Amino acid sequence: MADALRIGIAGLGTVGASVVRMLGDKGAELTRQCGREIAPVAVSARDRARDRGIDLGNTQWFDDPVELASSAEIDVYVELIGGEDGPAFESVRAALEAGRHVVTANKALLSKRGVELAAIAERNGVLLNYEAAVAGGIPVIKTMREALAGNQVTRVFGILNGTCNYILTRMEAEGLSFEECLREAQRLGYAEADPTFDIEGHDTAHKLSILTSLAFGCRISADDIYLEGISNISQADIRAAGELGYRIKLLGVAQKSENGIEQRVHPTMVPTSSVIAQVHGVTNAVAIETDMLGELLLSGPGAGGNATASAVIGDLADIAKSRPGFQHGPVFGRPAKELAPYRRAAMRSHAGGYFIRLTVQDRLGVFAAIARRMADNAISLESIVQHGDVTQAEQKTVILVTHETTEAAVRKAVDGITKDGHLVDKPQVIRIERAA
Ligand code: NDP
Ligand code: HSE
Repeated sequence: MADALRIGIAGLGTVGASVVRMLGDKGAELTRQCGREIAPVAVSARDRARDRGIDLGNTQWFDDPVELASSAEIDVYVELIGGEDGPAFESVRAALEAGRHVVTANKALLSKRGVELAAIAERNGVLLNYEAAVAGGIPVIKTMREALAGNQVTRVFGILNGTCNYILTRMEAEGLSFEECLREAQRLGYAEADPTFDIEGHDTAHKLSILTSLAFGCRISADDIYLEGISNISQADIRAAGELGYRIKLLGVAQKSENGIEQRVHPTMVPTSSVIAQVHGVTNAVAIETDMLGELLLSGPGAGGNATASAVIGDLADIAKSRPGFQHGPVFGRPAKELAPYRRAAMRSHAGGYFIRLTVQDRLGVFAAIARRMADNAISLESIVQHGDVTQAEQKTVILVTHETTEAAVRKAVDGITKDGHLVDKPQVIRIERAA
């Protein structure tokens, strides 16, 4: 049997501890599958004294992950610390420069420094594997990089953040508050160290930027993503969506248009009858539209220790099975230096349907003024619903659903309605996404 694959793991939190546990539990089976043992020989975290409920008996401890990353005692460096810079970046770079393979779950790092790191990996003939970085346990990277060879992708979109989907699902199903649901997602190990990254959409954007690069062969460009999180989604929006036959999901969407590539992350109305609307809780889903396949939908657990460990271990098994001297495929599907510059399509040119919820003063002429602003901007309406508010007799809620229009037209119409002075609360605008 070949020599064991020696791995060094930095980060022993939710994901790192699960990886160590699973490698212990599944050791014999993995050895049979890979033809060699995958052996954790070294670890690093901040607090050496912390009881993590895992056996670290045969591992060497490193206080400094950068030192671990370039140690001659390991073949693979597994980065599970997190963060776009700092020790995660320094250690991954050190490992690649030292000729070690790298496995990481760190989407923040890849979305900012991925192309630079891929160039080092490709120059040094080592692997940089990152299946766990997008959609947890779903093998979407392998699917896009390998299984869809020859396909031309036209749109990729999905539920890419387990925390947000968990929150929206429980708010809708149980009427719980946003804060309660977030606390529970944190307790279950789904949320990022700073949960703002989840709820304000940054984590979805990081993942989307990676999928965009794989889909369209361009450089990663997370800064070019239009971003809105879910923190201002209220029970009123969730109820109104339900009444109109929609469900609200935080989606990441990347699509090619004649203007360039549109990347956006925002709360989205999807038809209740669509498959993606049935994706609940921490589950993620990624839809990939291609010329050869039509739509492919992958779904599965998107966060949490075990789901993420499954993807990390899959990446490790690929390395264990790879043959010395074998030329590895490029990190983002084509060589880093051949990735095309990213060409951004302006958000104002986005075309689609819109849900607009307005809280207005209940007085003569308001309805007519709203309708006029819509007509002035050539927005055709699919429906208008008006609700009274039992607690505020002088207010009404007006909900408009538009036919396909543009972002520019909707912004102009809503600005006009705001200037008319009839609104008593901030207008709510939620985009509607076509979904099968
Ligand atoms: P945690 O916060 O649970 O764990 C982070 C670990 O990194 C801790 O063990 C911490 O040490 C260690 N660490 C922090 N700073 C340093 C440092 N300077 N040197 C060495 N170790 C350090 O994070 P998660 O396990 O949740 O996430 C890890 C990575 O996986 C992140 O990139 C995250 O985005 C990604 N990810 C997470 C998923 C999830 O569901 N949780 C899913 C998919 C990806 P100590 O324990 O001593 O404090
Ligand atoms: N915080 C992330 C989520 C972890 O909730 O999806 C998985 O990447």
